Amino acid sequence: MNYKKNNFHIENIPIEKIAKKFGTPTYCYSLSTIKKNIKKFKNNFKTINPLICFSVKSNSNLFILKEIKKMGVGADVVSKGELLIALKAGINPKKIVFSGVGKTYEELKFAIEKKILLINVESESELNQIEKISKIKKRKIDVGLRLNPNIDAKTLKKISTGKNEEKFGLIQKSFLKIIEKFKNSKNLKIKCLSVHIGSQITNHRPYEKMLNVLSSVIKKADYNFEYIDLGGGMGIKYNENTKVLNYKKYNSIIKKFLNKNKTKIILEPGRSIVGNSGLLLTKIIYIKETNKINFVILDAAMNDLIRPALYGSKHRIIASKLNRKIKRKKHEFVGPICETTDKFLSLSKFQSLKEKDILAICDVGAYGMVLSSNYNLRTKPAEILINKFSLKTITRRQKLNTII
Ligand code: LLP
Repeated sequence: MNYKKNNFHIENIPIEKIAKKFGTPTYCYSLSTIKKNIKKFKNNFKTINPLICFSVKSNSNLFILKEIKKMGVGADVVSKGELLIALKAGINPKKIVFSGVGKTYEELKFAIEKKILLINVESESELNQIEKISKIKKRKIDVGLRLNPNIDAKTLKKISTGKNEEKFGLIQKSFLKIIEKFKNSKNLKIKCLSVHIGSQITNHRPYEKMLNVLSSVIKKADYNFEYIDLGGGMGIKYNENTKVLNYKKYNSIIKKFLNKNKTKIILEPGRSIVGNSGLLLTKIIYIKETNKINFVILDAAMNDLIRPALYGSKHRIIASKLNRKIKRKKHEFVGPICETTDKFLSLSKFQSLKEKDILAICDVGAYGMVLSSNYNLRTKPAEILINKFSLKTITRRQKLNTII
């Protein structure tokens, strides 16, 4: 994705052309970026040879999942819906893991019937439910146990999941108690220890601490886990100031861990596979200038992309046509929704803009469309997949009459 002759392109197509053809707001994704990310991910972790399960919650578009599947990647799912779509994309059930603190009886039963690799259990009550199903089905069920390692992932508070005050996983005491109670169970086979401490992690140290906790818990449990599922969370570069995770370091600390613990590693990346592959194309509806502020009012809003409003995250904004003329004034890029937090970015200067110009909000391939809503009774955007010169509609723009 870059400017060619002053026009911003995604693969070989100018984004202005996509906006004209499909309207705005529209998500578009670069297939080659997704493929490149998967190759890079595999390469970075080559020496530990993990089972890679793409975290479907970050982007659950069927066509994208099909492409990811073609590259041999499995899935990490958190609902019956995600499990269904992963299976529909052709992902082998033996490469699917199921996490989540509140899986219902129906969801567990469905996952068991589909014979997925692992259900990562987060409470003793959930384990009891699985045991009930196992007795009915007269089948031994493979499960993982999710540990809450009480680690600060040093990421945004709202996307941290590894501390004891957060709802995820089992605290160490309960974890060890469950191992003791179920290690010789006729109905359940505890095959995996799983963790996930948070998302958008940019430093390897929290992972290092997490692995140290795992080593100590494994020792205390005195139990052989066939798999260790380390979750996802690998951060990406959203702007000049964000650091990126040093994958080599993360890989080498996992390798060190494997020297002490013989097991197969599972990784559940989401953002690092699709995050930088997506743009949200939007058109300027109005520009409203006040004494101090230039409000750039876009046709995309917090219902299309909620990350800035929900987490205060900053996504770069670029213009479809490069203009070297700079306007030095505070710019507020906002949506039309009746909420003050419906704001994407504040900048002290931007290239000179006019109404109807096309802009792109960057790095929205993960947790973009999946978190969209119909707030203010706005329809959800279309999604387009770009592959070199070809464009494919992978989600049609929602129509008002389907939501009214
Ligand atoms: N595994 C588990 C168990 C998870 O809960 C998550 C993300 C992942 C894997 C994938 O993490 P990733 O590699 O994408 O960081 N909506 C927030 C992010 C929420 C992440 C939830 N769990 C955002 O927009 O930043």
